[in-house]
Amino acid sequence: MEPDSLQPATLASHVDQALAAIAAAADLAALKAARLAHAGDRAPLALANREIRTLPPAARAAVGQRVGQARAAVKAALDARQADLEAERDARALAEESVDVTAPWDRRLAGARHPLTTIQEHIADVFVAMGYQVAEGPELEAEWFNFDALNIPPDHPARTLMDTFFVGDEDSGLVLRTHTSPVQARTMLAQRPPIYIVCPGKVFRTDDLDATHSPVFHQLEGLVVDEGITMAHLKGTLDHLARSMFGSGIVTRLRPSYFPFTEPSAEVDLVCFVCRGESVGDPDRPCRTCGSEGWIEWGGCGMVNPRVLTACGIDPDRYSGFAFGMGIERTLMFRNSAADMRDMAEGDVRFTQAFGMEA
Ligand code: PHE
Repeated sequence: MEPDSLQPATLASHVDQALAAIAAAADLAALKAARLAHAGDRAPLALANREIRTLPPAARAAVGQRVGQARAAVKAALDARQADLEAERDARALAEESVDVTAPWDRRLAGARHPLTTIQEHIADVFVAMGYQVAEGPELEAEWFNFDALNIPPDHPARTLMDTFFVGDEDSGLVLRTHTSPVQARTMLAQRPPIYIVCPGKVFRTDDLDATHSPVFHQLEGLVVDEGITMAHLKGTLDHLARSMFGSGIVTRLRPSYFPFTEPSAEVDLVCFVCRGESVGDPDRPCRTCGSEGWIEWGGCGMVNPRVLTACGIDPDRYSGFAFGMGIERTLMFRNSAADMRDMAEGDVRFTQAFGMEA
């Protein structure tokens, strides 16, 4: 006689419990637990299966079939529930992970050309229209071009006053150019007069970044060398540039100054583009932009020092020239009322966009 554990009623009750657990499994994790409990190695039906071996050989076939059917019923129920739960999971994933094609897709800010780039091109255009060429020079510059060729000898205070970034060893002879003036020397060595060039470019000084200073900024250099060039040509050229940048009525004033590479030298001032000089001597209408001076500082200029011409192999008895240099950030601040230089360095597209997509 077979033991209780292999009686049809016992097996049927194992199957019923298994089917109930399988039906109750709400997700794949619960089904996995049910599979382990009812179809795993230690499940009642598995134990029953192992018990068949203890029966006399003649009884094994019938009982084996009975246990086999019971296990097959459980396995079929498990497989069916597994398929259902997987289908449910996939359907839910499809619904939840679907792409909302009505979502806005064009909210990424469009870029814009940097106003420092466009203003440099604008200035270059003003000069190209007068027959000038646009010159270039390296930002990592030989000390000789940055200083010596410009009549600034090693012991000259301008060498330290310029807050120079020296590169590598002290005697490497390399600096980050502190102004665009070395392009003057480079051009005169490479080209015979007549020379009419402008050079917009990056320059470097050991300043901290604040509203009006930056360790990296831009200058515009201008150089003319030809026969019969006078300071009147310089003044006319600067006035023309001022008017093309700031509108008619904005002219320049030259104030005596000193640069080793120009003689005579001058500071270039602009008529204050805010009060246009009308705040001068009128206490009722103070101007914050120019401090009621009527003028604001723009750059430096002068007649090319004959010593520089000679150093560059140009005959100072035959040729004369003028040169000027001004800050491009300053020009942009004046022209577009950009009050803080840091905005120009940070690269926030909201600043750039205010200038539009001007080409
Ligand atoms: N290089 C001078 C500066 O950076 C400006 C300048 C240029 C002065 C050309 C005279 C002539 O201050």
